[in-house]
Amino acid sequence: MVVDCDTGVDDALALLYLAGDPTVELVAVGTVDGNVPVPLGAQNCLRVLDVAGCGAVPVAVGCDRPLLEPSHYAEHFHGRDGLGDSGLPPSARQLSPESAVGQLLRLARSQPGELTLLAIGPLTNVAVALMLEPELPVLLREVVVMGGAVACPGNQSPWAEFNVAHDPEAAEMVLSAAWNELTLVGLDATSQAILRPPAVARISACGSGSARFATRIVRQQMELKGEFELCDPLAAAICVDRSLATRLSTPVRVELRGEHTRGATIADLRSSEVGPASPRPAVSVAMTIDFDRFIANFLTHLGVGS
Ligand code: BDR
Ligand code: CA
Repeated sequence: MVVDCDTGVDDALALLYLAGDPTVELVAVGTVDGNVPVPLGAQNCLRVLDVAGCGAVPVAVGCDRPLLEPSHYAEHFHGRDGLGDSGLPPSARQLSPESAVGQLLRLARSQPGELTLLAIGPLTNVAVALMLEPELPVLLREVVVMGGAVACPGNQSPWAEFNVAHDPEAAEMVLSAAWNELTLVGLDATSQAILRPPAVARISACGSGSARFATRIVRQQMELKGEFELCDPLAAAICVDRSLATRLSTPVRVELRGEHTRGATIADLRSSEVGPASPRPAVSVAMTIDFDRFIANFLTHLGVGS
């Protein structure tokens, strides 16, 4: 698996989730402008991977701005350091000399049909990779994207989810491509993946490095809101085990021009049967999740015993 991310508290938790799953081979991580400026997101990836015992996984820096618009960061939510203002020390490790886009293309071309891409940040890197390599959709086995809000409100605006709203043009390019398989894990599903105080208490009581790290980075939001939405960890979990969510098969477009709705993800909800004459490929939208199994996996992957 290759992860593209904008680390970010929940991106960090997603990386810990994957690192704690023995069935996952994490090949490389790329970073993109999103929650925080891309150099900071990249440093955060190194920090998380160090803690998770994945110090050999390369981290490459990707696009430093969306395709069209200036950046709007989410430091108000993720903290000035992107990790909940947790004051964690920097990693001693170096970033990869290659770009995140170059890394993704090299890996996809060298192992055609074998890699899964988990994209849990804005889709700028993936869109640039698509422009450089039109065969990318068939070179990757599967793509799982955390993004969108198909039949529910947004979080960046009433209509748009953050990752799509940050770079709507990139998201539209990705959703219009003919991937072998694309799963969209949007707010429809992630709004059910809520970390609550009893689970946090179990994580805090656990001595594993991943659990201690997770406790520190969620503290700020738990104190502010009393809960934390596990957006990116849910996408990671569904990427590993598709049976965690029900799916709706539908083409999805991104609203690019709406006065109020730019960045909204628009599904064709008229039918779940999309025929060959459809103007664009259907994607698989995660809808209802098996929360109990997801949260149990989340705790286990952080090293929390039952
Ligand atoms: C998404 O936006 C970011 O702030 C999170 O990391 C997640 O990827 C949720 O809308
Ligand atoms: Ca993210």
